[in-house]
Amino acid sequence: MGGGCEGAPLDVRIQAMRRRHLRSVLRIEGQVCPRPWTLALFLSELGAGPSRRYLVARAGPSVVGYGGLMVGLGEGHVTTLAVDPRWRRQGIATRLLLALAHHGVDEGCSGLTLEVRMGNIGAQALYRRFGFVPAGVRRGYYAETKEDALIMWAHEIDSPAYAARLAAIDADLAAVTSTTATTSVAPAAVPAEEQA
Ligand SMILES: CC(C)(COP(=O)(O)OP(=O)(O)OC[C@H]1O[C@@H](n2cnc3c(N)ncnc32)[C@H](O)[C@@H]1OP(=O)(O)O)[C@@H](O)C(=O)NCCC(=O)NCCS
Repeated sequence: MGGGCEGAPLDVRIQAMRRRHLRSVLRIEGQVCPRPWTLALFLSELGAGPSRRYLVARAGPSVVGYGGLMVGLGEGHVTTLAVDPRWRRQGIATRLLLALAHHGVDEGCSGLTLEVRMGNIGAQALYRRFGFVPAGVRRGYYAETKEDALIMWAHEIDSPAYAARLAAIDADLAAVTSTTATTSVAPAAVPAEEQA
């Protein structure tokens, strides 16, 4: 555990991504993606209307993660998901994905899909928690490394069983937060770039 403030609950809030968040988003994107999205691409997505949902996770004033969902034809496509390396394994991606999954359900989606690098075992473990299962491979999908993409799907997200899965993930998160809050330590020098 690396984030949060000692003796205080991990205060992470999920909010709609705004243009003012993009400096921080691009900083994280540049650290974690071999082929980072550009400012123009984020701006285009933010301007694409109600078919898109982009969220940031904020710890205090700092943006520490972000994710996006594109909705259409009864399906939701997770377009991006990333967490600042200093804030990982604290449930931040889980919170973002929970919010995106709920949005997909609210928008009437019956399934969620995404592509993930074949070698990205950590992200795949996260997605499996959300009911994603492997559904195919896109050969050489990531042009810069020629790495294959694993296509994953979560089906029947409009079912009571999936609602129960999301509720269980939410409950786990609450339990972990309450047990780790008193032992976590703030990471060094996270820039406080974003004021609400
Ligand atoms: C993948 C990523 C978004 C996860 O963010 P995170 O906030 O650390 O994830 P969470 O803390 O919510 O993890 C939830 C669960 O996912 C699994 N998981 C996440 N990262 C993992 C890792 N590196 N190794 C193994 N399991 C991992 C674990 O089961 C974890 O639960 P646990 O910590 O109780 O064991 C983050 O590592 C990241 O930004 N990676 C680079 C970008 C990326 O790969 N994005 C996904 C592309 S499709």
